[in-house]
Amino acid sequence: MLTTYLCGKKLKSPIILGSGTLGEKKESLINALNFGAGAVVNRTLRVSSNRKIFKPAYYFGKSYMLNADNKNVTPWEYWVRKAKEVEKYGPLIISLSARIPKDCGIIVSAFEENYSPSFYELNFSCSHSAKIYGKISYEQVEKSLRLIRKRTKKQIFLKLSLDNIDFKQLNNLEGLVDAYVLSNTIGPGLKIDINSRKSVLGSPFGGVSGDAIKPLVLAGIYELKHHTKKTIIGVSGIESAEDVLEYLILGCDAVQIYTKAHREGIEIFKKLNDDLKNLLNKMNETVETIKGTFNYGK
Ligand SMILES: Cc1cc2nc3c(=O)[nH]c(=O)nc-3n(C[C@H](O)[C@H](O)[C@H](O)COP(=O)(O)O)c2cc1C
Repeated sequence: MLTTYLCGKKLKSPIILGSGTLGEKKESLINALNFGAGAVVNRTLRVSSNRKIFKPAYYFGKSYMLNADNKNVTPWEYWVRKAKEVEKYGPLIISLSARIPKDCGIIVSAFEENYSPSFYELNFSCSHSAKIYGKISYEQVEKSLRLIRKRTKKQIFLKLSLDNIDFKQLNNLEGLVDAYVLSNTIGPGLKIDINSRKSVLGSPFGGVSGDAIKPLVLAGIYELKHHTKKTIIGVSGIESAEDVLEYLILGCDAVQIYTKAHREGIEIFKKLNDDLKNLLNKMNETVETIKGTFNYGK
């Protein structure tokens, strides 16, 4: 009932662990797969990473999360060695940054020489990194995609944010991309501590994720669907099986979850899968039958 196909690959559930701090170590990814995640994404990889550390890096609001966490703890070579171990438990999607295109070439070459993961996901930047280190351009993304394409036959996802969608420019990338992932964090956002009168984070801004951004992202995916026939993976603000269904009904082939797993723990995948099964049962549907049934009539 939960089985689904993502770019031709069979997944036992459409619910994937998205990229984030939890994906710094193989153990959390293996746990997520054991708790029923259909696939997992590691923390976005970079070759050179002289990035700043902001403390505190997280703030949890009632319906959103802010994060200023942008530094990798684990070197990229670790994943080249560990990818095979993770894939014994389920599909691994390797996330890498589009900021320095030549780094994509270095990273993907190393994977392809050692162990080729199920998919690659090119991260077109989150909102707070864009604020601190500058926006990544479509030229950088195109160069990165071409370098990855040259080195692998595996499918490549492009992870967008609502902040960096430009439909005209995306048209030029269509031939290089197999699927789109929407959305990375948006914003950035600011939360003020009224006692210290400073930002609650160690940096003025943080990327906004969680429940509050879901309606914005669903609307973004609605628009994206009018511009492309490619597979879309929906991400943002998923808290429940009902939220998963919204993305599937809109036509996503799978979804990714991050904030809820970060806040509540990797076990969430079991309950989400159980709830999704019950819900689909009641509706007399399966993941495959309910996908793309959005009623455009209204
Ligand atoms: C603490 C934190 C770290 C994140 N790190 C990454 C990252 O390294 N690469 C990436 O593509 N997305 C990253 N994200 C974005 C998430 O994968 C996701 O796209 C976004 O948070 C929206 O989904 P959510 O509301 O389910 O969290 C991060 C999000 C958070 C909260």
